[in-house]
Amino acid sequence: MNVPRFLEIKHLAAEDLQQAVELDRLCFGGFWSIEGYRRELESPNSDLLGLWIGETEEGSSERISFDIFTPQHSELSAATPNGTDTGAAPLQISRKFIGLGCLWAVLEEAHIIMLAIHPQFQSRGFGQALLWALLKSACDRQLERATLEVRASNLAAVSLYKKFDFKEAGLRKKYYEDTGEDALVMWRSGLEKPEFQEYLESKRQEICDRLRRKKW
Ligand SMILES: CC(C)(COP(=O)(O)OP(=O)(O)OC[C@H]1O[C@@H](n2cnc3c(N)ncnc32)[C@H](O)[C@@H]1OP(=O)(O)O)[C@@H](O)C(=O)NCCC(=O)NCCS
Repeated sequence: MNVPRFLEIKHLAAEDLQQAVELDRLCFGGFWSIEGYRRELESPNSDLLGLWIGETEEGSSERISFDIFTPQHSELSAATPNGTDTGAAPLQISRKFIGLGCLWAVLEEAHIIMLAIHPQFQSRGFGQALLWALLKSACDRQLERATLEVRASNLAAVSLYKKFDFKEAGLRKKYYEDTGEDALVMWRSGLEKPEFQEYLESKRQEICDRLRRKKW
């Protein structure tokens, strides 16, 4: 029998920061310390998102449909696959923090500073879900463009960004101090256009369909 699953993407809170540091260590070898994460939480120009997955009690509905939950949303409401509310919150019988994303709002640009999925859960569609949430967040802030730097050798990440129509716009030579590797600079424009809302909605459906089909 299939156990009902859930996926949640939320703004991190102070009590999540220790887990964020651990995931950061696993994925980047320690990009930020806990103080660094605390600064992000406190900054009005930063969106720090986490992705949780888990299982709920038998008989409850799957909650693979996702949005970014903030304290104003009822994050524990049971969502049906099309996202409508069915009332009572299902009991969570397991919960794992597996993804971390951060953007900085700089003038009208979203700078994607961090995107990471726990190594044991990569290549299952979670990176797409989290990138979707960062772009949604940028859109909610009425930003116009998104940009990021990525190691030229990081084919998984480059391919993920291209799936969201990021374009390569140049190289920063020897950008990474540890290896002297070049950074690829990528841009995604058009976030302020009305059709970007439709784009996000169709991406969300696509990502949800894939996550529902796959086991994790
Ligand atoms: C980059 C990263 C966030 C991708 O997350 P993920 O959950 O593995 O990605 P998804 O499963 O959502 O895959 C989305 C797309 O990325 C690409 N991709 C993912 N894993 C890949 C791999 N091992 N090789 C090539 N492409 C890959 C594919 O295009 C994939 O789409 P597809 O499955 O339809 O072909 C993840 O690999 C990660 O955390 N890496 C370490 C940290 C990092 O490098 N972050 C990026 C810094 S800029």
